[in-house]
Amino acid sequence: MNINSIQYIQNTLKSQGYVLGCKIHYYEELSSTMTIAKNLAIQGSDSGTTVIAKTQISGRGRLDRNWSSPEGGIWMSIVLRPPIAPHDVPLITLASGVSVCTVIQKLFNLSPGLKWPNDVVINGKKVCGILTEGCIDSGTVSYAVLGIGINLNFSADLLPAELRTSATTLLTEIGRPIEPEQFLHQLLIELNSVYRELIDNRPQIIDLWRKFSVTIGKEVSAIYDNKKICGIAKDITQDGNLIIKLGSGEEIEIYSGEVSIRRGAYI
Ligand code: BTN
Repeated sequence: MNINSIQYIQNTLKSQGYVLGCKIHYYEELSSTMTIAKNLAIQGSDSGTTVIAKTQISGRGRLDRNWSSPEGGIWMSIVLRPPIAPHDVPLITLASGVSVCTVIQKLFNLSPGLKWPNDVVINGKKVCGILTEGCIDSGTVSYAVLGIGINLNFSADLLPAELRTSATTLLTEIGRPIEPEQFLHQLLIELNSVYRELIDNRPQIIDLWRKFSVTIGKEVSAIYDNKKICGIAKDITQDGNLIIKLGSGEEIEIYSGEVSIRRGAYI
C-alpha cells in the first residue's frame, strides 16, 4: 500500500458518493491512528475522515492493551458523527465487525466469526480487533472514532509470542499474500453500507451479527458486578448487549468488558 493506491481508493469512493474513506490521511509511521483521528475530530473534520498508517508505534487495543501493528496490517481509524444516542455507540463496533467478516468471506471464501463484542476470529484465532471511542457532549454524540486493526499480510510469527496461540493473520490462514489495496477498498465499501444500515435498519445489522456470531449458544464466563459469572450466551439485544443465561435460569445482560468462551465449548 502506498500514497498513490490510497488516493485512488479515496477518489473512487468519493466519486461513487460514499462518505467513509472519502478523505484519507495516510502515514508511513504513527503513534496511533486513534490519536490522530481524535485530533481531527476535535478540529471539526467531517464524518468519514479516515486515518491509515503503515505501522503504528503505540497501537492501542481495548482495556488499555497494546496493539501490535507491524507493516502489512490494516491500521485505520475513522471519524464518525453518528446521529445515534450515546448508549448506542457500541453498536458501531458490532456493525464494523459484520463488515470485516463480510469482506473476508467474499474475498477468501473463509468462515470468519464474531466473538462478542469486537473480535473477528478465524479458526478460533483473532485476526481483527475493533475499538470505538465516543465523545459525548450535552447528552449527544459529538463524534466517535472507530479503530480497526486487521492482521492481514504479515506472518503470524511477527505477532508477540504471548499472542501466537490466540491470534493469527490472514496471510498465515490463507497461505498466500493478500492485496491490501483490494481488501481496504472492499472494507470501506462494506463499512459505508453497514454504517448506513445501523442508522436506517438496525435489526438487519443485529441479525447479520448473529449469523457471524461464535459466541451465541456457547458456554461463557464474564465479570458482572465485580463477580465472575458463567452461563450460556443466549443472544444479543437490539442495543448490542450480550444476554447470558445462568445455571439458576436468571438472565443477565452485559454491555461491556470481556467474555471468555469456555474451553471445549468453542470448537
Ligand atoms: C482490540 O483490543 O481488539 C481493539 C484493537 C484495535 C486496534 C486498532 S489498529 C487501528 C487503531 N489504532 C489503534 O491504536 N488501535 C486501533
